Amino acid sequence: MSQAHLAYESRVNLGSYYTPPEIVGTAWKMIAPYVRSQTTVIDSACGYGDFLKHCGQAMTIGCDIDETAIDVAKESSNRVRFFQTNALHNVSRTKFGIPEQSDLIVVGNPPYNDKTSLIRQSIKSVDFEIDDDLACRDLGISFLRSYNKLRADLICVLHPLSYLIKPTNFRLLKAFTANYRLIEGLLISSGEFPESVKHTPFPIVLALYQRDAQGMAYSFIRSFRFRVTDKNGFCLDEFDYITGYLDKYPKKKNQPRYDDTLFFWTMRDINALKRNRTFVESYSANTIVLDRRKLDYYVYVDVFKRNLHRLPFYFGNCDVLIDDELFRQYKSAFISDTISHHPFLKKHFQIKPLEKQRVESELDMYFKALLGEHHV
Ligand SMILES: C[S@@+](CC[C@H](N)C(=O)[O-])C[C@H]1O[C@@H](n2cnc3c(N)ncnc32)[C@H](O)[C@@H]1O
Repeated sequence: MSQAHLAYESRVNLGSYYTPPEIVGTAWKMIAPYVRSQTTVIDSACGYGDFLKHCGQAMTIGCDIDETAIDVAKESSNRVRFFQTNALHNVSRTKFGIPEQSDLIVVGNPPYNDKTSLIRQSIKSVDFEIDDDLACRDLGISFLRSYNKLRADLICVLHPLSYLIKPTNFRLLKAFTANYRLIEGLLISSGEFPESVKHTPFPIVLALYQRDAQGMAYSFIRSFRFRVTDKNGFCLDEFDYITGYLDKYPKKKNQPRYDDTLFFWTMRDINALKRNRTFVESYSANTIVLDRRKLDYYVYVDVFKRNLHRLPFYFGNCDVLIDDELFRQYKSAFISDTISHHPFLKKHFQIKPLEKQRVESELDMYFKALLGEHHV
């Protein structure tokens, strides 16, 4: 069984969620055309070494901080040079005996562990040293930076899609994105990892990067077409998002003033919307004091939340999508739906609510048109 030797806490700490064999196979198909006999392939967070089993004639190096994992890995392969060491400390080619002029490919599934995220915070503590230029709140980002430090020619790894699509994360990858360009990206649900099935699935990308002096800007990611099984792919720029239509976060000096002030829960991405509330009746540090002129768009988000089951996993870290023109056409259906779920809002709207059946069919038409082939 995968990572069976680790207790729950160590798994969380080390980010030890071993990769299902089909995904390892897909990664291998991606890099196979680039592997030659002089190539060195390294997985610096190799676990039991599964990513290094198909390397043909290439030189292979496996590294993991976990001693038991390395012992198990050694038993199943004698072609690979294994190191039991911290891959984020004193990073250089010399550390792994990789010649400076050698073609280097990095493969694997490094740990992603956001040290600041609230979930399971009580047991998260990373207690190994990290080079100053690699240190970051998220271990996965440190690993991506380490591949740049090794001057890898090609990188084929799994990591959360949020590293690329959230501007704040993308900025943390500056040293990396200055030297690499995404050439392929396959989207995979975290739900495919047996350990993660209990949690809300989030999108992971199996990404292939090539070293390239041009690097890539954020706009490159926005227009990049990610692969998704069974579909034509997914591109961020194909959609319009709610960000431009309302405030997602409380503003400073955002205190309620009138008795009939309306409140809405702070908005992050679609996965956060899944967990959070929308309209709320009282003020708190997490509520937005509504700008009435934008009320219709908050209604939109409220209805969107009840329709999240229509979205595939890969929208999890995106903002709420909108087709504004179409929304205006169906607005009465949206308002009627919100009123029926939050009767206290009724007095804020002039319309006579539509009957339930009509609301349902209009919302169905809207969401099918909005999502097109992505509709679940
Ligand atoms: C997601 S698992 C991947 C294991 C294997 N590559 C696979 O996909 O089956 C992440 C691995 O990173 C290792 N790891 C965590 N921190 C590390 C560090 N600082 N240096 C080296 N390995 C580390 C963990 O022990 C774990 O085996």
